[in-house]
Amino acid sequence: MATKAAVGKHAATTRVCEFYDTGKWIGQSIIRIYRSIPDGTVAHVQYFQIEFSKRGRGLGRKCYTEMEQTLRNEGVDMIELMPIDSVLGFWEKMGYNTRCGKMLEKYIKGVTS
Ligand SMILES: CC(C)(COP(=O)(O)OP(=O)(O)OC[C@H]1O[C@@H](n2cnc3c(N)ncnc32)[C@H](O)[C@@H]1OP(=O)(O)O)[C@@H](O)C(=O)NCCC(=O)NCCS
Repeated sequence: MATKAAVGKHAATTRVCEFYDTGKWIGQSIIRIYRSIPDGTVAHVQYFQIEFSKRGRGLGRKCYTEMEQTLRNEGVDMIELMPIDSVLGFWEKMGYNTRCGKMLEKYIKGVTS
């Protein structure tokens, strides 16, 4: 067997996405974007939060939907994330499927949310 680990071939970038509602900050997301040979351009959501007092009013869905559209417009093919158990239901409602273990994934290229 002749294995090879080509470390460093593809750069990854970290982006911060801020969410606003009628001009007021209501949350943020931190996303790592990288190239994956099987999956294309992947956005790994490291963190996604809506301010505590604003939760439960549909703003998480609205902010997520806008973020997904922005990532799609920027050429992202797939979004992945590893949620804590208590918010798994939120991500399932956003269209995510289990990949392996607790990793969720959603292919977004050419698909409108
Ligand atoms: C998870 C979070 C972003 C949801 O934001 P939100 O504004 O309360 O969500 P919404 O009101 O837009 O809810 C959208 C849908 O998800 C559902 N949902 C929201 N939170 C949920 C949860 N914890 N478990 C199951 N379903 C949930 C809602 O019932 C709603 O369903 P519906 O559209 O069928 O009515 C928010 O609770 C949060 O910031 N949590 C703390 C940070 C965190 O844990 N982030 C995730 C790390 S991976």
